[in-house]
Amino acid sequence: MTSLPYPLLRRGKVREMYDLDTHLLMVASDRISAFDYVLPQLIPWKGTVLTQLSSFWFERTRHIVQNHFVAGDPEKILAVRPELSETRAAWEGRGMLVRRASPFPVECVVRGYLSGSAWKEYRQSGTLAGEKLPEGLRESEKLPEPLFSPATKAEEGHDENITFGELRRRLGGKTSDTLREISLALYGFGRDLAAGQGIIVADTKFEFGVGDTGELLLIDEVLTPDSSRFWPAASFEPGRGQESLDKQPVRDYLESLKQAGRWNGRPPVPDLPEDVVDATTDRYRDAYRRITGSELPE
Ligand SMILES: Nc1ncnc2c1ncn2[C@@H]1O[C@H](COP(=O)(O)OP(=O)(O)O)[C@@H](O)[C@H]1O
Ligand SMILES: [Mg+2]
Repeated sequence: MTSLPYPLLRRGKVREMYDLDTHLLMVASDRISAFDYVLPQLIPWKGTVLTQLSSFWFERTRHIVQNHFVAGDPEKILAVRPELSETRAAWEGRGMLVRRASPFPVECVVRGYLSGSAWKEYRQSGTLAGEKLPEGLRESEKLPEPLFSPATKAEEGHDENITFGELRRRLGGKTSDTLREISLALYGFGRDLAAGQGIIVADTKFEFGVGDTGELLLIDEVLTPDSSRFWPAASFEPGRGQESLDKQPVRDYLESLKQAGRWNGRPPVPDLPEDVVDATTDRYRDAYRRITGSELPE
């Protein structure tokens, strides 16, 4: 957790957002969550991987939509906001400078595969975001085409999936259509790039806002392991849950404790042994390497 001497706009499960007036400094910590809980151990490098992956995508998707990204490289951040040099060590690598926007109160989820809450909905009612899907799909199965399935942002607890019709009622038809179209385009771009590296982007979540001159901006984080389900293509097999590209070692460990009757699945979440932490760090670093084709900046 960082506590920098700037007004805190928001402290999320794994990130802090500092209010620098026209800018925000978003700092991704090394905290990790699994089974809905934040774990007691930190995963070294995780925050840096998330921030630098987001930077990578922001810089490469401007042809689809403008975004809030200003800089992720420490020197470039300091060129814009020199006063941040005092606290550099606390945010270097894990901090991103962005333009402040007014966020739309929705999460723009795109799903290419049937997993998580979508699998749950489908199993119960044969639908996804209220729309009928073909019968007989299995867990993790590739959808006939990617689907936009928006969710409301809940202040506490879980986001609630809503239908596209409900989104249109809330934000208006024009805005909703635009968000849907851009979200699908972003997903397609990310999916294709990741596929070339043997990674399946099963689903992902985007957020959008309006900038100070009224322009639509892609905000928050983009195509990171925290906002997406990444699956190794090599082990993909529909009909079951899939291996997570990033946090599988953590899941496996906690699952083994459950099986052995040593954890009941509720807090307090058990400590992670060092080898599990190390293996997870390796996973995150490897994901960065594979997606971007370069080493993490030191
Ligand atoms: N450029 C921006 N301007 C204003 N708010 C932003 C911007 N980018 C992201 N946000 C908001 O910051 C918040 C980050 O919260 P987050 O760390 O994701 O916490 P949580 O775990 O509750 O989702 C989100 O509500 C997001 O909409
Ligand atoms: Mg969030």
